[in-house]
Amino acid sequence: MSETMIESFLPDVEATDILGRALAATQPARAVVYLHGDLGAGKSTLARAWLRALGVEGPIRSPTYTLVERYPVPGGEALHLDLYRIGGAGELEFLGLDDADAALWLVEWPERGAGSLPMADLQVDLSVEGAGRAVRIRARGVTGDEWVKRMEIRGDLRPFPESNP
Ligand SMILES: Nc1ncnc2c1ncn2[C@@H]1O[C@H](COP(=O)(O)OP(=O)(O)OP(=O)(O)O)[C@@H](O)[C@H]1O
Ligand SMILES: [Mg+2]
Repeated sequence: MSETMIESFLPDVEATDILGRALAATQPARAVVYLHGDLGAGKSTLARAWLRALGVEGPIRSPTYTLVERYPVPGGEALHLDLYRIGGAGELEFLGLDDADAALWLVEWPERGAGSLPMADLQVDLSVEGAGRAVRIRARGVTGDEWVKRMEIRGDLRPFPESNP
């Protein structure tokens, strides 16, 4: 089991945007990403920056009540899920999500859909750290491993905790 990992500090929303752009630029053709973190940790902010970087125009709403928002992106469809309000993992099936057509899964509160979601390639953990956010990006499997290595080569994330005042 691979355990490639990046830890970084995101002092402001602009830093989160940079991370979203870096993830979009390095993602594999098909990617499943779990976004972990408490309410307000910045999961939707990251997802929005990521989708914008993939060329999504117009409003990008938080799927708080709809559970899923879908966007056409290069190579297929991006699915942005927020499972905070899901009744149970079984409810995911009613959404009729087609794994095969999805180029990207961005899943907030994935723990609430456990067992009904595809396996993650990347697990992102966000947490409030002072006025900013701490982020930990962990690879899951070979695809995630290679992805994290591409992120490391880009080198546009500040290390944690050195830059945390
Ligand atoms: N790096 C950052 N530094 C400071 N504030 C940030 C950062 N990233 C996001 N925020 C702010 O955190 C707030 C909450 O963000 P967001 O809605 O993305 O959280 P969330 O994790 O999706 O929450 P929820 O679980 O309720 O969906 C927003 O006001 C956003 O601007
Ligand atoms: Mg959110």
